[in-house]
Amino acid sequence: AEDLIHELEDIAVLLARGAAEVVRDARRGRLSVSAKSTVTDLVTAADREVERWLVARLAALRPGDAVLGEEGGAHAGTAAGGRVRWLLDPIDGTVNFVLGVPQYAVSVAAELDGTVVAGAVCNPANGELYRARQGAGAYLGGERLTGPRDVPLERAVIGTGFGYDARQRTRQVAVVAQLLPRIADIRRIGSASLDLCAVAAGRLDGYFEAGLNVWDYAAGALIAAEAGALVSGLRGRAPSGLLTAAAGPHLAPALLALLEELGADAVNS
Ligand code: IPD
Repeated sequence: AEDLIHELEDIAVLLARGAAEVVRDARRGRLSVSAKSTVTDLVTAADREVERWLVARLAALRPGDAVLGEEGGAHAGTAAGGRVRWLLDPIDGTVNFVLGVPQYAVSVAAELDGTVVAGAVCNPANGELYRARQGAGAYLGGERLTGPRDVPLERAVIGTGFGYDARQRTRQVAVVAQLLPRIADIRRIGSASLDLCAVAAGRLDGYFEAGLNVWDYAAGALIAAEAGALVSGLRGRAPSGLLTAAAGPHLAPALLALLEELGADAVNS
């Protein structure tokens, strides 16, 4: 499996970097924007174009693998018995992409037998490339990442996000209102994968969000965990659409306990 996992990481890096080029080119042209699940949940022609590019590259490199992409593009060989599944978010942070805020990313993760074993996240606006392989650490470019500062809750700067679902947002506003007085500050970067990479790189002390899709967090969660952060859901669960949280190993228990008390799990999941 070692060789296979190595190969999957190399491909994840190749795909994230290549797709970031496609995203960069698309940003130079005219953007065609439309609404998806709600009027604020945006998708651009670029999201679809980049996903098509990724799926085509995977079909050429690993034709037997299954693919799950945010834009639901053509899924390459979903052959029964295949051990590898790719989780793709062509542009995570589409609203930032549309506005020209340089915080959006291509996220590529590879699952082997249902476990995420390799991932890469590339920000096309600044070229930063994060990657990780199970058991082999996380890197930003050539630099090994050592995770967040492990400050106490009252000094922690915590990232979060607010999905697109109206009931979810109402819940999240109440959670943040009660959380803010207990911590140093909040950040809302606008890209879940980059939030998790920011935890890995020590740019955020922690992060949590309810209502994510697996392609938003799969690669970032592995990168944060491999950098030494504790990545989980609430009540001992694994990270999921219910809640995905990441923080240093000393901060995490306090943050998770507070999020449990505040009922930060997703409303609908
Ligand atoms: C979104 C971003 C955002 C998060 C949303 C995601 P998208 O991804 O990660 O930060 O708050 O929940 O859906 O839709 O831009 O790929």
